[in-house]
Amino acid sequence: ALPRDLEGLHVAVSAGGTREALDPVRYLGNRSSGRQGWALARVAAQRGARVTLVAAHTADLVTPAGVDLVRVGSAAELRDAMHAVAGTADVLVMAAAVADFRPAALVEHKIKKTDRDPDPVALTRNPDILAELVAARRPGQVVVGFAAETGDATTGVLEYGRAKLARKGCDWLVVNAVGDGRAFEVEDNAGWLLSADGAETPIPHGSKAQLASAVWDAIRPRAEL
Ligand code: C5P
Repeated sequence: ALPRDLEGLHVAVSAGGTREALDPVRYLGNRSSGRQGWALARVAAQRGARVTLVAAHTADLVTPAGVDLVRVGSAAELRDAMHAVAGTADVLVMAAAVADFRPAALVEHKIKKTDRDPDPVALTRNPDILAELVAARRPGQVVVGFAAETGDATTGVLEYGRAKLARKGCDWLVVNAVGDGRAFEVEDNAGWLLSADGAETPIPHGSKAQLASAVWDAIRPRAEL
């Protein structure tokens, strides 16, 4: 059994991939399965935390026991749900793959096939939810971001991660290497946990639950109990 060392903490985790509607039947989406966010929520609940899991589109995953699941679709819905839970949560973890862009206009009716060339899809930028949560952070509240980067330690991943941590202003950034079949739609993961105070902890290759445990191990002493 795991230690109940997160008892008294309310943690909110976002997971999965947002879907941005193009018309009533079509969307722009991504390959996120939600598995890493699920593991973070499951492990936190097993360690005694009160857990709110804000889930965009995911693979067919069983809701972890004792977790309060909030289903969302688009980035706008995920944003509203995270801001709502941020009022009470001690720790906010943005593990969701949030679409950076959405179609500029939602077409009311199903777009018809025509003989002429299709119109290009105009996109508009979604707000950066992680940056917003950092800006609205309450004293003592811990905000954690994720960054999926291609490359390896020597060719980019860590450098990108450090820059992203500074840019987003969060307390922790979990950097995981993607590409070449890594991280997305698979059961395992690896990476680095970067802290705003400069600490850089490698997370060895293992299950997504093991990565989740490493993240909670690092955050627990920092979160106000
Ligand atoms: O900038 P990038 O998308 O790589 O940053 C990834 C981190 O930012 C993740 O924690 C993701 O959940 C979050 N994010 C967000 N809002 C966006 C895009 C990403 O909160 N619009």
